[in-house]
Amino acid sequence: MTSVTMTVNGKSVSGDVEGRTLLVQFLRDDLKLTGTHVGCDTSQCGACQVHVDGKAVKACTMLAAEADGADVKTIEGMANADGSLSVIQQAFQDHHGLQCGFCTPGMVMTAAALLKENPKPTEAEVRHYLEGNICRCTGYHNIVKAILAASGQEVTQIAAE
Ligand code: FES
Ligand code: FES
Repeated sequence: MTSVTMTVNGKSVSGDVEGRTLLVQFLRDDLKLTGTHVGCDTSQCGACQVHVDGKAVKACTMLAAEADGADVKTIEGMANADGSLSVIQQAFQDHHGLQCGFCTPGMVMTAAALLKENPKPTEAEVRHYLEGNICRCTGYHNIVKAILAASGQEVTQIAAE
């Protein structure tokens, strides 16, 4: 076992993990932060997306031990300090960017990373950035609309795929 310490959603946390323990397992099983989902075993779905030191990372592709000392943010850390939804989360609600919600934590974390890098993305840039996130329900259009709205851009008709 290896001891790890990291900051998760602004709080310092520690634990003992096996060398093979994935970051997503540490978050879900040890810290009980079950908003980070596991939707595949092939690193394709993006449901496990979190931020590590400010960058979007699929938490199933990183060992917990590799995140030792890192600053990690999960969907549980995305709401505003008063508990209200963040701009991105509110936009997903307003624009019906979710149905079953399974992909949504990963989508929100990916959207936050995109808007940090590129505050006013085009529709094409949003679609390109979402390529690592799979949604089986929505057809993506309303997710794209939500992200464009969260960027403060007027949402009009978007292109059909
Ligand atoms: S669970 Fe990580 S990409 Fe699917
Ligand atoms: S809302 Fe169901 S998988 Fe995306």
